[in-house]
Amino acid sequence: MKRVGVMGLGLMGSGIAEVSILAGYATAVCEVNPELLQKGRSNIERSLARAVERGKLTGEQRDHALAILRPGTDLALFHDCDIVIEAVTENLAAKQEVFRALDKACKREALLTSNTSSLSITQLAACTQRPDRVVGTHFFNPVPLMKLVEVVRGIASSDDSVAQAKRFCESLGKSVVLAKDTPGFVVNRLLVPYLLDAIREYERGLASAEDIDNGMVLGCNHPMGPLRLTDLVGLDTTYFIALSLYEEFGEPRFEPPPLLKRLVLAGWLGRKSGRGFYQYTDGTSQK
Ligand SMILES: NC(=O)c1ccc[n+]([C@@H]2O[C@H](COP(=O)([O-])OP(=O)(O)OC[C@H]3O[C@@H](n4cnc5c(N)ncnc54)[C@H](O)[C@@H]3O)[C@@H](O)[C@H]2O)c1
Repeated sequence: MKRVGVMGLGLMGSGIAEVSILAGYATAVCEVNPELLQKGRSNIERSLARAVERGKLTGEQRDHALAILRPGTDLALFHDCDIVIEAVTENLAAKQEVFRALDKACKREALLTSNTSSLSITQLAACTQRPDRVVGTHFFNPVPLMKLVEVVRGIASSDDSVAQAKRFCESLGKSVVLAKDTPGFVVNRLLVPYLLDAIREYERGLASAEDIDNGMVLGCNHPMGPLRLTDLVGLDTTYFIALSLYEEFGEPRFEPPPLLKRLVLAGWLGRKSGRGFYQYTDGTSQK
């Protein structure tokens, strides 16, 4: 693997592109329009600037990393990539379209991976002429800090593709767990019902948002409470994951609570939109 592509430069795509350039990979990044591309690029620049301020990175390392970032809005950018990681919105139709387009734009031997949290890798692979070369690489948020990547094997993924994806993620400094292609894989299958329970209890009036979060932080030593974590993940993303799990398994514990749906409809998507269960200014909670 020498050249990397990242499709979608939102919360996750910009984090994945950041760790990729820091590991020394020339990384092409693609967004739907120049404004979103610039927004993603600015997020990477800000994150690298913070790393320099904290002494974790030298100015020279930052400049080198930014010099090997190749931003654009045209898929032709990916023609020479050895691996392309899809990190677009968690929506089946959108991802299927992206995989059909990537299959055409990328060289035959390139590995195509999806950062999906809950959709089927097998179904995405079936949109391509190379289902053996499609696997899941599920990074965690915030990507530069979180150690884990779940590498997901679709029904048609080859052993070689799974092994290459694992080696690539390890080369970014991540630890890998291998998961089957079932909704939520390992972590979200266990985590999402917990987040949904917290939202249901908040909606029922069990306690304030702060007290629910403090309960889990101070009582269970979690680094972050469930409502703050949902704000960080994105309420829309959490909602889509819950829907996928609910559609697949039909169990009430996966059913998105009405309040989650209402907040998403209101555009209160959490930290990224400035408001979710808490309010944020410049990414910092105000409440
Ligand atoms: N948010 C999390 O904590 C988290 C964690 C792990 C995995 N994921 C998964 O990562 C993926 C991205 O999530 P996110 O939180 O970064 O979402 P996001 O909304 O922050 O970013 C998605 C980006 O994709 C772009 N996009 C949409 N269609 C595109 C296209 N056709 N071509 C190029 N760009 C396109 C959008 O413009 C947007 O900038 C989802 O599959 C999600 O389930 C999210």
